[in-house]
Amino acid sequence: MSDFYRTIVPPIKCQGIKTRLVSWIRSVAPSRFTGRWVEPFMGSGVVAFNICPGKAILADSNPHVINFYKAIAAEKITPISVRSFLVREGDQLLRSNGDHYYVVRERFNQYGDPFDFLFLNRSCFNGLMRFNKKGGFNVPFCRKPHRFAPAYITKICNQVKNISNIINLGEYEFYCQDFSTTINNINEEDMIYCDPPYIARHSDYFNNWDENNERKLANFLSLVSCKFILSTWYGNKYRKNPFIDALWSEFYMLKQDHFYHVGASEENRNSMTEALITNFEPLLYDAPSEMVEQMILLEPGTSYTPNSSI
Ligand SMILES: C[S@@+](CC[C@H](N)C(=O)[O-])C[C@H]1O[C@@H](n2cnc3c(N)ncnc32)[C@H](O)[C@@H]1O
Repeated sequence: MSDFYRTIVPPIKCQGIKTRLVSWIRSVAPSRFTGRWVEPFMGSGVVAFNICPGKAILADSNPHVINFYKAIAAEKITPISVRSFLVREGDQLLRSNGDHYYVVRERFNQYGDPFDFLFLNRSCFNGLMRFNKKGGFNVPFCRKPHRFAPAYITKICNQVKNISNIINLGEYEFYCQDFSTTINNINEEDMIYCDPPYIARHSDYFNNWDENNERKLANFLSLVSCKFILSTWYGNKYRKNPFIDALWSEFYMLKQDHFYHVGASEENRNSMTEALITNFEPLLYDAPSEMVEQMILLEPGTSYTPNSSI
């Protein structure tokens, strides 16, 4: 892998997006596997689209994310259709001095159209993706009536084009389903990348992740016949993730510091130590040397506490 690898950025954003961790995750993933790249928690899809596998199963419990990528795969969402939609709606946003955002939000909460999803995702406050108890999108406007300026629309259209090229060159399938269904359908040759919501952190209608979910996931992953990589948080200066020792210590673990930029929550204000848990020994042959220097690899069964520094 080149040190100058350019990260492919998808057109939608979400909390916990791994844009800045993609090259690390890529360096850990086996470069050759004959099966499918399987993501039970695809979110924005940034990891899969940078791994760029020939075959992929990409799933999430959030139907809006899945509908959006299905619409790209079906060529309903294309750079041309996105441009004409954003020019038209962006113009109304400007002329209404921002009020049109709330018209689109109400429309989206009624019909769930993927174009409206993109519009809201790219003009809401802080690029957040948050849904209320009834499943309605409830993020306020970013308060920039000029949001959809020509250069910004072009940037989004280019992102749609890049993702659409990747999807159309490979065999990609998108499913709205619980992670258990996705993991139940894997083969030995597949490679799983799991990025569940971080326990005790961001929570909303589609990210209701508690200890039971974390235990169930650990149980499923301990039984899979293929390789897996799991992203989780190791700790920040205030606390350490208690499940690292309780649930994941039988696997390999790599950790690295990371600074989150999306959202206004705790993870945003502090650097956080991220962990990758794997059920195979990561070889890291392809990783740039400065990246390897920052990583700490712990063997299975190593006690991660109390002396290991965060
Ligand atoms: C941290 S995000 C994934 C971020 C993604 N890796 C990225 O870089 O954009 C977690 C995702 O898990 C999804 N999710 C939450 N609970 C789930 C469940 N039980 N089954 C499947 N997906 C779930 C959420 O909708 C969210 O998109």
